[in-house]
Amino acid sequence: MEKVITTLLLLCGSVCAQASTFADSDVCPTLPSLSSTAQATSFSDGDAQAGEKLFDQYKCNGCHIDKVGGDGSAIFTRPDRTVTSPEELIKQMTLCSGIIGKTLTIQEQQHLGAYLNQRYYKLK
Ligand code: HEC
Repeated sequence: MEKVITTLLLLCGSVCAQASTFADSDVCPTLPSLSSTAQATSFSDGDAQAGEKLFDQYKCNGCHIDKVGGDGSAIFTRPDRTVTSPEELIKQMTLCSGIIGKTLTIQEQQHLGAYLNQRYYKLK
């Protein structure tokens, strides 16, 4: 039984380590505060207005317009959209920005995430 608990704790730890890519890294190391880690996943360190600026600055909608037309925002609202969690949102933003040779900082991910989440995704 003890072994099971240890394994569980380890699992939690590694989830936390992954989460720290987008969470404030200060939040993570303390296991008892797992609930605050969950909070941080919804881009609580980001500022939606700053995110909107970055979105324009990096011309994020350029390719999206090619793909879905209009102002490109339909990529975030299409019924079969791929992003269903904050983790996936980070992953997709990383992929997209990688194509244009840009590495988003964790702060930029938070801003962009806050913007897209507030405006389109409404993920918890
Ligand atoms: C080089 C072209 C390109 C650029 C630039 C680009 N994207 Fe994308 N993006 C795509 C394509 C193509 C898809 C659709 C992929 C798919 O259908 O699975 C996509 C999908 C997405 C999605 C997922 C939509 C869904 O289905 O839920 C997000 C989020 C996203 N992009 C964010 C961004 C952000 C943020 C930026 C700017 C930093 C950006 N993208 C810049 C090409 C691009």
